[in-house]
Amino acid sequence: MQIEPQSFDRVLSSMCTEPHPVARDAAERFLATNPGDPGTYPNVTALEDEAIGVLGEIAGLEDPSGYIASGGTEANIQAVRIARNRAETRTPNVVMPESAHFSFQKAADVLGVDLRIVPTDDSYRADLEAVRSCLDDDTAMVVGVAGTTEYGRVDPIPELGELARSVDAMLHVDAAWGGFVLPFTDHEWQFDHAPVDTMAIDPHKMGQAAVPAGGLLVRSDDLLDELAVDTPYLESTSQATLTGTRSGAGVASAVAAMAELWPDGYRRQYVRSQHNAEWLADALEKRGYDVVDPTLPLVAADVPRSTFNGLRAKGWRISRTGTGELRVVCMPHVTREMLASFIGDLDRLEVRASVPVASDD
Ligand SMILES: Cc1ncc(COP(=O)(O)O)c(C=O)c1O
Repeated sequence: MQIEPQSFDRVLSSMCTEPHPVARDAAERFLATNPGDPGTYPNVTALEDEAIGVLGEIAGLEDPSGYIASGGTEANIQAVRIARNRAETRTPNVVMPESAHFSFQKAADVLGVDLRIVPTDDSYRADLEAVRSCLDDDTAMVVGVAGTTEYGRVDPIPELGELARSVDAMLHVDAAWGGFVLPFTDHEWQFDHAPVDTMAIDPHKMGQAAVPAGGLLVRSDDLLDELAVDTPYLESTSQATLTGTRSGAGVASAVAAMAELWPDGYRRQYVRSQHNAEWLADALEKRGYDVVDPTLPLVAADVPRSTFNGLRAKGWRISRTGTGELRVVCMPHVTREMLASFIGDLDRLEVRASVPVASDD
């Protein structure tokens, strides 16, 4: 029997989504291309330049460099690699808030850098004093997150930039998830707002491209040069990516999605997703749950474990934060109808849980 992919009907905690139809089509057309070998596959290489150009526009960078990576993990690892290679120390460290994605743990492990993890404040954002107290002459990079995975928070990026500069460290912004919604908000998060050196910004999340389409942006070419190795058997002379052969499907679908949606389609999607998140937060609050306010389209709420398990048993694809809250990511495929049906199931489970167990006497 042929196994089919899951439908998105009950997917509420994924950071990925159904690709836009034009992105799906482009991915299929470019499936058999490899931007890792530009001498053989020049068309997809030209598309990758286009993709970086639009990502630069989205992130406030006039003359962008970068590449389409396999995802936010690769972009984060590569950013740490740039910082490590530039640092004038043999014992570099990277300072980041505890809200940063676990991909930085992989980066630190692979690259042999010391990861200094600092607490967040009451609003789930990087605690600036805690960051300051961890900085020293060996700090190669400070990480700020623009759209955290668990609570959708945006760290104080300009202030983190100042702190990074005070010790000659680089500033990396992880906007892997937030990058396609933040342009429509008042948050300060991008290259124009702060001395950002590198950024992760993923078309395959809120950008509605097919997986794999992550984005690494760097402020100037010389940063990318830190990653380049010679490529003797290829017609191109060097390669800055972490992977060698890589899918042109992600590149082509990113270009197609962005051509279709940037900026108006993404703006409409942000408004829809944000309204959905606020509607859900309100519905959960009315039922007495503690809810973390959705500053971006992501809702976290303290739902009992038994209820969470009951919802999973009903087929809802949901996950929890590190401290156990239900988290719902209002991605483009998440509709108001889905959320209403989810709340309906939650109500039925809670009613059942509150009915007293009949005693024998
Ligand atoms: C903020 C953030 N950064 C990085 C990543 C890692 O991205 P990927 O899974 O595409 O490698 C994620 C994944 O959800 C994320 O939310």
